Amino acid sequence: MRQPLVVGNWKMNGSRKLTVDLLDSISNGIDAKIASEVAVCIPNVFISLATETVRSTNLTIGAQTVSEFEAGAYTGEISASMLEDIDCRWVIIGHSERRALYNETNEALVLKVLAAQQSGITPIFCVGESETDYKEGRTFKVIESQVTALLNNAMVSLDNLVLAYEPVWAIGTGLTATPEEAQEVHAFIRNLLRERSVELADEVRIIYGGSVKPTNAEELFDQQDIDGGLIGGASLDANAFISICQKA
Ligand code: 13P
Repeated sequence: MRQPLVVGNWKMNGSRKLTVDLLDSISNGIDAKIASEVAVCIPNVFISLATETVRSTNLTIGAQTVSEFEAGAYTGEISASMLEDIDCRWVIIGHSERRALYNETNEALVLKVLAAQQSGITPIFCVGESETDYKEGRTFKVIESQVTALLNNAMVSLDNLVLAYEPVWAIGTGLTATPEEAQEVHAFIRNLLRERSVELADEVRIIYGGSVKPTNAEELFDQQDIDGGLIGGASLDANAFISICQKA
């Protein structure tokens, strides 16, 4: 049985005040009865404040990217061991905004996954096809190349890994893949995982992202291979986010 996982991605939003207020509201709304694991990935500068804020709650905190290097002359970068040092538990790697706006390549992303795993941080590795790829029927080809870039590296562990399927055309657009379309891609990803390990493939959580809202979360999470969500816009609204967590 895979425990559902809901992850908020605040992207480049927030302040000290919003961090404390929003995390307090979310943690108050997520009681012990909730079945899903809940994490919030926030801007690095607020992670220390956030981990203090959620210390005695069920919420955990993550980052949105990490350096592939351990230490040294990489001005502006933050290493996985630094994140671990401030109790960061998760890191989103390969979000389509990082791939598109910062030219992050599959090769660098795989090194980031390894850096996170070596520091005991769980990478949330994102894959997803562009609108053109979707319209021209290349979804599975794109997903396969992104997932196999990761899985072909024998050092990548399936024990401490989450995958996120985020169709790029669904991010922040109000459009979502239908539950059936998303399920088909998630099942395809799980089959790729099976080529590495039949037992572990059933334990890896594959979450869906792209305009997930309280109104569409339930039908998405009902699908067999959709193990939760990666939530952008709706994670900045405590009530909407809590409602999504309750549906997982
Ligand atoms: P939205 O939920 O705003 O579409 O964003 C999804 C996303 O990019 C989460 O990482």
